[in-house]
Amino acid sequence: MYSLLARPGTARHFHDRVYAGDILLAADLPAMNALVGFTRAFVEDALHPWLPQHIHRHLNHEQQTVLFAKCQNEFARSAEIQRLWHAVIEQLGLTPDSLACDRLHLRFQPHREPEQLTPRARTTATIAFHRDTWGSNLYAQTNWWAPVYPVTAGRTFALYPGLWQRPLLNSSVTFDMRAILQRSHQDGRNAVDADEAIPHLLEAIDSEEGIAVEIEPGSLIAFSGAHAHAGVGNSTGLTRISFETRSVLIADVMAGLGAPNIDGYAPWQTPGLFRRMSDGKRLSEILGCGVIERYSRPA
Ligand SMILES: [Fe+2]
Repeated sequence: MYSLLARPGTARHFHDRVYAGDILLAADLPAMNALVGFTRAFVEDALHPWLPQHIHRHLNHEQQTVLFAKCQNEFARSAEIQRLWHAVIEQLGLTPDSLACDRLHLRFQPHREPEQLTPRARTTATIAFHRDTWGSNLYAQTNWWAPVYPVTAGRTFALYPGLWQRPLLNSSVTFDMRAILQRSHQDGRNAVDADEAIPHLLEAIDSEEGIAVEIEPGSLIAFSGAHAHAGVGNSTGLTRISFETRSVLIADVMAGLGAPNIDGYAPWQTPGLFRRMSDGKRLSEILGCGVIERYSRPA
């Protein structure tokens, strides 16, 4: 499923491959090892006296959502995490002044018994099948994902590379990102549950088509936000903790480059969620548009 990422590569070559549907793997990257090491120390400290992967044994769901949200906010704001992420980007031959990046996200997916009713809070839920572009409408978007602790086929997420070019029935046409952002800002991230935060698939697909992402801590993958993916239900006995974010090459957004839009119909585009990595300036300011803008699908 993966193409190995030459490093250092060029931003042009990297993004052309992402827009063409390649799933790029950077294996055992020194800068990513440094980010993983710092992140482990960060979560071990934040969840002390419990071991991060055992946290579901000690806290109920309500306590988990509160603690994970606090951890996620501190992680996203950490200057050291930002610095380590910049180093990863630079080691791949990309530059922080050319990219705008979404929030750096620490994902927790606690173990659950297979028959357990699963709460759908945004901080803990297994994410349903989707393409990010169904919600974001940013076809230049690159998704980044990396494990913080080891993952297995039962404790990870799955990509569906076979669906890259297959239009799928989905609920993007009624997906109101503006209303979701308003509620999220007013009442906090947990006010919008994991199912409301993304559009949904409206047809049956064979879950066997999903390929579990099993890469080692210290490695990371980059793939187009137009790739279909879904969380894998975790009943492995350990909580999954992984790192993810999204980026765009600013010049490509300006030039209208990106992956093809085969089945996205959402009415909004949200460039304001991305900030230039070098100075934190919002992509919407750089583009001279609103944080959220009406999106018209090219004919
Ligand atoms: Fe996603």
